[in-house]
Amino acid sequence: MPARRTLLKAIAAAPVLSALGVPSATAAPSATATVSSAPGIVKPVPPEYFTVRGTNAEARFETFEDTGPLTPVDRFFVRNHTSTPVLDAADWRLTVWGDGLHGRTPVHFTYGQLRDLPSVTRSALIECAGNGRSLYATQQGESVSGTPWTLGAIGAARWRGARLSDVLRLAGIASDAVDVQPRGLDAPYVAGGVDLGRVRRPLSVAKALDDVILAYEMNGEPLPYDHGHPVRLVVPHWVGIASVKWLGDIEVSRTPLASPWSTDYYRLFGAAHPPGGSAPLTRQTLKSAYELPFGATLEAGRTHRLEGRAWSAYAPVRRVDVSTDGGARWRPARLLGPTRHAPWVRWQTPWRPYGPGPVTLLSRVTDAAGNTQPERAVHNTQGYLFDAVVRHSVTVV
Ligand code: MTE
Repeated sequence: MPARRTLLKAIAAAPVLSALGVPSATAAPSATATVSSAPGIVKPVPPEYFTVRGTNAEARFETFEDTGPLTPVDRFFVRNHTSTPVLDAADWRLTVWGDGLHGRTPVHFTYGQLRDLPSVTRSALIECAGNGRSLYATQQGESVSGTPWTLGAIGAARWRGARLSDVLRLAGIASDAVDVQPRGLDAPYVAGGVDLGRVRRPLSVAKALDDVILAYEMNGEPLPYDHGHPVRLVVPHWVGIASVKWLGDIEVSRTPLASPWSTDYYRLFGAAHPPGGSAPLTRQTLKSAYELPFGATLEAGRTHRLEGRAWSAYAPVRRVDVSTDGGARWRPARLLGPTRHAPWVRWQTPWRPYGPGPVTLLSRVTDAAGNTQPERAVHNTQGYLFDAVVRHSVTVV
């Protein structure tokens, strides 16, 4: 096991680090601290933009309306198993180790060495596997366990960093290595009194050598504390848990690896799935939704410009259809901006409601591979990968 050399400091010590050129996201306690903070999260999470759920902060999906294709850091959701460790880039080391390396000797990279490697920049979503989980209950009447996210466990950012493939090759990955397992430097996660160790989850070598980034910048700034400072993995299109934050080490193995995050969590269990559960989740799914609060009130007799977003982890978005009468009639929404390389697509549709009363608004994305949202998501006990058409109730007054 590699020695852990990274300095873990108390969140309270964070201001010291601003001298190191890392963002000073440390929310000095203020008069609003009681309503703008969440346990273990460094940045402010004001209630107008976030809903705090335990150690996590969900973005209010409807507030994405005034953001562009990228989610600003101060609006980006936080999913922490424990709490944000405040790490110092100057002391940070990445250790690559395991029997999947030619020499079998651990190889270390400093922050400076990582930054000296050729960099890549790409926009990508991070979306929690459980995003939309609460809709299993509210829309389908099915009970599931886990954080009851609505739709805001997602954000898009422009990530810059080194290619994981470059790092693995420099470390001497063997041609018969099959899995790598990145692990975070946050505190071990304890569930039901059992210490599961640090957050870690295997990734196939095929994916690791494909498009995975060791990111040190988010939207042009050094990675913020809550999002993995100094270095996190960004695993495009995969469930958020794959994008391990506060990366400390990567095991490389000639035999398949496992962790509680690939065996007990982040796979599909339940009547519709194999008795031992599905294979560990890899790709996210597809969704679309209106950027409106659930239960919003809209005025009758005037034209509203309804806006929303759509995304798919399988292929670029091809179209979004909308219904403003509970699904009786559908029409295409207007897609805004490019769809080909965008992590998600904004869309618009005009709507002039007539009489007062309750209305269900629907939207349905179809991607270039022909995937489309079903009416119902297939239930799984932990409520992952909700993909059904979202039924958005509003009231016309
Ligand atoms: N990495 C570590 N080390 N610890 C964590 O708790 N949470 C994971 C992933 N990486 C997590 C982690 C989960 S479940 C998600 S959805 C994403 O980080 C969330 O990334 P964000 O907090 O930057 O939005």
